[in-house]
Amino acid sequence: MRLYCPTEIHFGNTELQQLQVDGCVTLALLSRSIAPEYKAKIVAQLQLGGNRVIVMERGGAEPSSDEIDRCAVAVDGVVDSIFAAGGGSTLDFAKALALVKVSGGAIADYEFGSRSFNGALPLTLMPTTCGSGSEVTQYAVINNSVSGRKFTLGDDCLRAKRAYVIPDLLQTLPVNQILATALDGFIHALEALLNEVRNPIIEPLGIEAMRLIHRHLITIVQGEYGIEQLEGVALASLYGGICITNSRTGLIHTLSVAFSEFHKLSHGVVNAQLLPHALRFNRDHYNGRLKQIVSDFSAQSFNSDTDAAQYLCTWIKSLLPTTISPLNRSVVASDIDHIVDRILQDKGLPLVNSRPLDHTNIRTLVEEIVYE
Ligand SMILES: [Fe+2]
Repeated sequence: MRLYCPTEIHFGNTELQQLQVDGCVTLALLSRSIAPEYKAKIVAQLQLGGNRVIVMERGGAEPSSDEIDRCAVAVDGVVDSIFAAGGGSTLDFAKALALVKVSGGAIADYEFGSRSFNGALPLTLMPTTCGSGSEVTQYAVINNSVSGRKFTLGDDCLRAKRAYVIPDLLQTLPVNQILATALDGFIHALEALLNEVRNPIIEPLGIEAMRLIHRHLITIVQGEYGIEQLEGVALASLYGGICITNSRTGLIHTLSVAFSEFHKLSHGVVNAQLLPHALRFNRDHYNGRLKQIVSDFSAQSFNSDTDAAQYLCTWIKSLLPTTISPLNRSVVASDIDHIVDRILQDKGLPLVNSRPLDHTNIRTLVEEIVYE
């Protein structure tokens, strides 16, 4: 057994005063959603010691290969390190940029391995949402602007040197974004613990991540929350990130990537909509594992994996607004083969999924989702 998380983690509101970066020239990528007074505090902290800071702001869109390549050209000259504060998309954008600045080429060169990972600029990451866990993972999710294909890069050089998780930053995050990102964090922990080659060392972290989100999310959705609840979901998100850096995600995330070309919904909401399908698909193959996990985080007892799955689905349904558009709205029959092919491209999924996978049962699953 081995737990690997080389990122130095700072958690808590006072940790902003400890903010450090490497080198003398730092590119600071800041999400436009950060409150102006917080941006000023961050930049002032980065400038301590005479460090030169180049500030660049971006919206919350998922990083596209075009955007990354354009930015890599625009940021000419010497940049010693990259700092990013934002949601998972901005943190992943920073990782991709850090990679291209050192390993060269265009970011799409790494999609199928035509260029190898040869290092990245040192990264310091500060999440402003509560789910991606990108601040501690070795992953970056990118959209290929030409093909529309979403792809995940994974390499140790994409790990941040330092992560600063500041719960106060969630104060200005809209409730619907807290909900979407926290559900993603919850599903990271769930999938990491359901993984057939899971790492037992992460189990307490995963259970605690789910317990915190299960405990606090309903209060947040009802709009009656304070710093206690925000600290809870921020910590849970961090734990979820540590979980998936040591025990990969599963069927829900693979389905999520495969359906990504057909909707504009947020990643966490899509995952929440896919969860019932994935649990139903694997239900007879968990061998009591799902029952145990749900019992542990909810402090309730269940008779079977099916009961536990039903509880989870009901809980998630109670959190999602009824106005959310269904995932399958823009998928047509002729898209099904493409979605099935994209799922089968994930060669690691059969190694971690409880139920053996083949073209036939994957196709049946996709048809169920599309025609539900
Ligand atoms: Fe995720």
